Amino acid sequence: MENRLVFPQDFKWGAATASYQIEGAAHEDGKGLSIWDTFSHTPGKTLHGDTGDVACDHYHRFASDVKIMADLGLQAYRFSISWPRIFPDGTGEVNEAGLDFYRRLVDEVLEHGIKPAATLYHWDLPQALEDQGGWLNRATSSYFADYARVIGEALGDRLENIITLNEPWVSSFIGYTTGHHAPGKQDLGDGVIAAHHLLLGHGLAVESLRGVAKSCEVGITVNLSVAIPATSSELDVKAASRHDDQLDRWFLDPVLKGQYPAGLLKEYVSLVGDDFIHEGDMTTINADIDFLGINYYTRNIVAARKQPHEPWTRQTSLGDFSDVDDVTPHAAPRTTKEWPIDPDGLHDLLVWVSKNYGAIPLYVTENGAAFIDYVDQSGSVHDSERVDYLQGHFAAAHRALEEGVNLRGYFVWSLFDNFEWADGYSQRFGLVFIDYHTQERIMKDSAHWYKLVISENAIDQP
Ligand code: FCB
Repeated sequence: MENRLVFPQDFKWGAATASYQIEGAAHEDGKGLSIWDTFSHTPGKTLHGDTGDVACDHYHRFASDVKIMADLGLQAYRFSISWPRIFPDGTGEVNEAGLDFYRRLVDEVLEHGIKPAATLYHWDLPQALEDQGGWLNRATSSYFADYARVIGEALGDRLENIITLNEPWVSSFIGYTTGHHAPGKQDLGDGVIAAHHLLLGHGLAVESLRGVAKSCEVGITVNLSVAIPATSSELDVKAASRHDDQLDRWFLDPVLKGQYPAGLLKEYVSLVGDDFIHEGDMTTINADIDFLGINYYTRNIVAARKQPHEPWTRQTSLGDFSDVDDVTPHAAPRTTKEWPIDPDGLHDLLVWVSKNYGAIPLYVTENGAAFIDYVDQSGSVHDSERVDYLQGHFAAAHRALEEGVNLRGYFVWSLFDNFEWADGYSQRFGLVFIDYHTQERIMKDSAHWYKLVISENAIDQP
């Protein structure tokens, strides 16, 4: 049918979550503290002082949660492993009880015919490592590789995909430069150094996984968006490209080409020196990977600043570390995160990545939206905005597929409403509604719609 968009036969439909956002059980079975435990318990850091102490209580409810996944017809499930459950001190002794939780989860997922994809680092660094400098300490990269080996040994025979890092741009520049996320540092130079150590950790982890998890596909997930210049003026075009250097190329170039973008590297080096990059690092970071995971939510329209920016210092924070201005398109409707809804941005991004980085298999590892959801008197959640959002983005991905982009699958963010970092529980991204008082799960309309999409492997043209 002409107005049906059919996806490739082996296209994988999934949903994603992350440990700190859903598990709860913050102190159970020997788990150590993570930087998010510390951060969320620090007054003023999260909305209403919300923490992930209980979250969706998934740690205790994982078996019934997997039934919900099966009911949805999910073909793949992306979750993350909490490093401090495995290594309460970040390194040293393995906590078998923590590892057991993920063994049971993975078995349960597999028993329901769902393919598990595990992220090793979705931002919950062991606090014990933060106490030694966190990602500013080069040793953290090696500890991460040790942790990767332990996961590879324990679960490598059963996991379909392993994703080393989730969104290193956020971990570094939001964690160490703007301070909006844990560990809450505010220093541009720290962001640069943390980013390098995260990437190094990725490369070292790929090396350790290759030895022990031979049947897994190994990759990394990055948050990307290709900016639109506000006008065709040379200055705006340059500003947009610079935005892409900071957000996209700063991570993609090292991982896929073994080098940092030269212009921006020069600027960062003039700020922090270059001793943080050791000989051989770029080769390590450039380790062969099997796929690239892309998280996409929105994109920016970017204009050159009217006023030149202040010279960068180590204390420069995110608003100033870019010499571009973001101009949000007025016309586009927004989600409750204030993110403009721009499905074409996903199409353009997928095409851009393929054009610039070759035929590497791609997954959309996160895409979704927060809206005001509520349970009505009949007990339903009518989230038609989310259905529209997803339909628009699936159609954009379909268009990219038709143009030859090597996209293998799509994970909706998120399976459940959950702890949305500094926004606490105020942003509901789930296909499944969570009543945080009773822990009741309710499939929203979008979940019922997604179930149909998966079973038909097709959508209506929006
Ligand atoms: C991404 C994160 C994910 C979630 C979504 C909304 O940046 O990876 O955990 O918070 O945003």
